[in-house]
Amino acid sequence: MKGIIFDLDGVICFTDEYHYFAWKQIADEEHIPFDRKDNERLRGVSRKESLEIILGKSKKTYSEEEKEILMERKNNIYKEQLQKMSEKDLSVEVKETLEALKAKGLSLAIGSSSKNTKFILNRIGLENFFDVISDGTNITKSKPDPEVFLKAADMLGLSPKDCLVVEDAHAGIDAAVAGGFKNAGIGSAKDYEKTTYPLEAFSDLLTVV
Ligand code: BG6
Ligand code: MG
Repeated sequence: MKGIIFDLDGVICFTDEYHYFAWKQIADEEHIPFDRKDNERLRGVSRKESLEIILGKSKKTYSEEEKEILMERKNNIYKEQLQKMSEKDLSVEVKETLEALKAKGLSLAIGSSSKNTKFILNRIGLENFFDVISDGTNITKSKPDPEVFLKAADMLGLSPKDCLVVEDAHAGIDAAVAGGFKNAGIGSAKDYEKTTYPLEAFSDLLTVV
């Protein structure tokens, strides 16, 4: 193993909860049923695809313009939460594990579908920590397509088989498998059948690499 590619939301920090609350607000306003079980399908997928999944349960047909308005509104609600984040939102466990992995000489990357990646990394004090960042701003296809991870590996100058992808989303594990990466799953991806290394805790990564 020469490199590790980390998903951001739900792996490095708990912004997955903020995504849920923002989408929940939109769904409630539109009178569309949406709960935590529905939310699992949104993990790892793009903003647009997340909206399409939510609207799939609506009886109403939405125009592209209406969809744009809903996405902007969701992102504004979400960003209000991000504004409140600080270095305190990076757990000591995650910080110390990342530092230990770096000290082992591994190349470290972010591979996230989010267009807010750099903003979040800045809030939690990790803006200069990773060797490369591949995110929602440099991809055209979101997970389960492997594009975001393939670009991260390419930026690191490593082959997928030499990299471990760390994910909390089933779509993210699927993307890792499709791209020829090894994978470790945490949270919702821990018990997923395609997960190679299930992680009880982030620090368990030190026993995997
Ligand atoms: C992923 C999240 O990291 O980013 C998804 O798991 C989210 O829930 C996606 O939809 C896109 O995020 P953003 O910040 O660009 O809306
Ligand atoms: Mg995630």
